[in-house]
Amino acid sequence: MADMLQIRYPATGVEAELAITDATIKAPDLRQFRIGEEPLATFDPGFMNTAVCRSSITYIDGEAGILEYRGYPIAELAEKSTYLEVAYLLLNGELPNPAQLADWELLITEHRMLPDKLRTVLAGFPYDAHPMTILMASVAAFYSFYPDARNFEDPAARDLNIARLIAKMPTLAAFAYRKGKARPYVNPDDNYGYCHNFLAMLFKQNERRYVADDRLVRAMEVLFILHADHEQNCSTNAVRSVASSGNDLYTSASAGIGALHGPLHGGANEAVLKMLREIGSVDRVPEFIEGVKAGKVRMMGFGHRVYKNYDPRAKIIKKSVEDVFEVTGVNPLLKVAQELEKYGLNDDYFVSRRLYPNVDFYSGLIYEALGFPPEMFTVLFAVPRTSGWAAQYQEFITDPEQKIMRPKQIYTGARTREYVPMEQRG
Ligand code: CMC
Repeated sequence: MADMLQIRYPATGVEAELAITDATIKAPDLRQFRIGEEPLATFDPGFMNTAVCRSSITYIDGEAGILEYRGYPIAELAEKSTYLEVAYLLLNGELPNPAQLADWELLITEHRMLPDKLRTVLAGFPYDAHPMTILMASVAAFYSFYPDARNFEDPAARDLNIARLIAKMPTLAAFAYRKGKARPYVNPDDNYGYCHNFLAMLFKQNERRYVADDRLVRAMEVLFILHADHEQNCSTNAVRSVASSGNDLYTSASAGIGALHGPLHGGANEAVLKMLREIGSVDRVPEFIEGVKAGKVRMMGFGHRVYKNYDPRAKIIKKSVEDVFEVTGVNPLLKVAQELEKYGLNDDYFVSRRLYPNVDFYSGLIYEALGFPPEMFTVLFAVPRTSGWAAQYQEFITDPEQKIMRPKQIYTGARTREYVPMEQRG
């Protein structure tokens, strides 16, 4: 027999049993209770306790600090896989065998170039445009170059456009970066893998052949793997929400990029670096912490809606920080970050609220050591998150339970007022 929840509303004497499935009740089942004329609903700003889908892509246990993609622990993927293997896993549910991986890598390599006319779109942006704006607008513009993305019910068209988007994101990100630096664009090089090619498109100068240090390529692979998916976060929810009105992948992913840009989500890595620079030195950390405790500022890179334990991604990134600094030299802000972390892990304000370092706390230091300006940091989150958005988009499109997203509201405004003519308005 199904697990049932008994509810009784004393005001009307109505009693009902609601079925519990997967530790949830169906919100529409509450409608049988009437509160006056109104059917009973739930009120949940920020979706604090509302599941919006069933998903088999990413598993998080925030209490225990566990993150798994398709059942594989994140630490093992970060140690043993490449980003493209992980992207394949997210999309297909299984790790690729050698032949599948070779085909997938070839497909991605073939689609790295941007449509020629997109250069005109890029030229239209001011020289100091934020690269996330360029990314968002250009991904939305892809739909006008690839209108077959509208055929998302057709698996072949869907797969092709997913591959196109994953392939083109690094090229677009690198072009946005070089535009800001007034440097000529560097086209993709078919001889390089996904991350090495990205570094080449970003940093190639006059050398005939750009060769990145293996440790930097591996650090990039690890960062990309850690950022690939994170179940129903703000940007993924934006992607699913925009997809729910029948949109193509590009329009939906462009909404995800917009959501990611906010400082409470992917923009936090940029905010962390600004915070570290403002603090400037270890001796100013106690004063900053007092400001946090007084509610004047937030400690960026700390706290998470789901993790109430150390973010497992932050643990892995800390190791990458060491690898990258071996190549680039130590970033002096590392000491400030370490001091902040010490406070965060010991001070009662953070301990009692279960605030721990999240993925963004250390990633900004790596990005800065690699030579990126802070406005590129969230772009470096958006590029790998594209595979997660694509996997979630695919899952949404093929899920018969899903509908157009349309939350309820509690109306608090005036009702049926008498119209005031212009001459009578004060
Ligand atoms: N610094 C200081 N206090 C904090 C912080 C912080 N970073 N985060 C939460 N708090 C406090 C908050 O003031 C509140 O205290 P009180 O109960 O006294 O009012 C309590 O902790 C609960 O916070 P909340 O805002 O209700 O929690 P939330 O789940 O709505 O917010 C969060 C989660 C990530 C938006 C928030 O922790 C935050 O703003 N962190 C800083 C921004 C950040 O690093 N974001 C990156 C998240 S990880 C990357 C990603 O997946 O996007």
